[in-house]
Amino acid sequence: MLRRPRRNRQSTAIRGLVRETVLATDHLVYPLFLIDGKNIRQEVPSLPGNFRLSIDEALIEIESCLSLGLTNFILFPAIAEEHKDKMATHSYHPNNFYLQAARQIKQRFPEACLISDVAMDPYSIDGHDGVVRAGKIQNNETLPILARMAVAQAEAGFDILGPSDMMDGRVGYMREALDQAGFTDTGIMSYTAKYASAFYGPFRDALDSAPRASEDIPKDKKTYQMDPANQREALIEAELDTQEGADFLMVKPALNYLDVIHLLKTNFELPIAAYHVSGECAMLTAACRNGWLVYEEAMPETLTSIHRAGADVIITYFAKDYARLKMSR
Ligand code: PBG
Repeated sequence: MLRRPRRNRQSTAIRGLVRETVLATDHLVYPLFLIDGKNIRQEVPSLPGNFRLSIDEALIEIESCLSLGLTNFILFPAIAEEHKDKMATHSYHPNNFYLQAARQIKQRFPEACLISDVAMDPYSIDGHDGVVRAGKIQNNETLPILARMAVAQAEAGFDILGPSDMMDGRVGYMREALDQAGFTDTGIMSYTAKYASAFYGPFRDALDSAPRASEDIPKDKKTYQMDPANQREALIEAELDTQEGADFLMVKPALNYLDVIHLLKTNFELPIAAYHVSGECAMLTAACRNGWLVYEEAMPETLTSIHRAGADVIITYFAKDYARLKMSR
């Protein structure tokens, strides 16, 4: 036997020499759910270990993440029922707590990178990412709302905006509005290939943002989010987002879509982000809590696999645990 691949697996040191993928904490983004109020730290039942945090608690959380070298955060607002309406007007109200949170966090921790969520659903009484009228999601009517939200978020100090709505043309529309308002340095991380997935459940629990189906309101997001059966269609979305000025292309979810991550990585020059979504994290957490898998092994293997497939950036609810693990090893 001339070739013996096992020779390169003999010791920790040799395995280190030939390791192809090393995931640094730098590449991770930690999602935080924010809620209005003070001293609030409510665990999300379907996503154990994750909390709805009031601003004061979020500041404490961010400080502890920064001390672990975790510097990137994506923020999502849990909006009180009385602030929800059909047109998501609260999303750009200058005093809403989400925008205030960004201001306060950037003031205290300018080194933290804050990524926003641009979508109507947390603020929408219908639980949809677009304006619902006559039983349909109205694409073009949604764009000016997203643009207003985007400019308000840029004003509040978000570094990167994350349109997660999947309306056609929204990246270009937002880019133009941002540039006109003078926010040429605010980036856009576009949810390029976002699938109509069954794995967003815990997130919708956290924000109470699930579609509120009725006779006149669609029960799912399939007319705007992509069909999980499609791969080539992601190339069309990536092409458009690139032309429209996106700074990152995102694939979401991550694990069931590693082929799509790889496809975009090999066909586009922009950095690729992957969103390891709530349902994917919840499954692993549940198995570990049952003693069926070992978290300290299964979790880093999972994140490394997403990186190996081609994701430069990984948004994951495990970011803090990974950062902690990295520090201790
Ligand atoms: C909605 C949005 C969703 C997620 C991020 N932004 C849910 C949805 O599309 O219904 C899901 C993230 C997760 O499950 O972790 N704009």
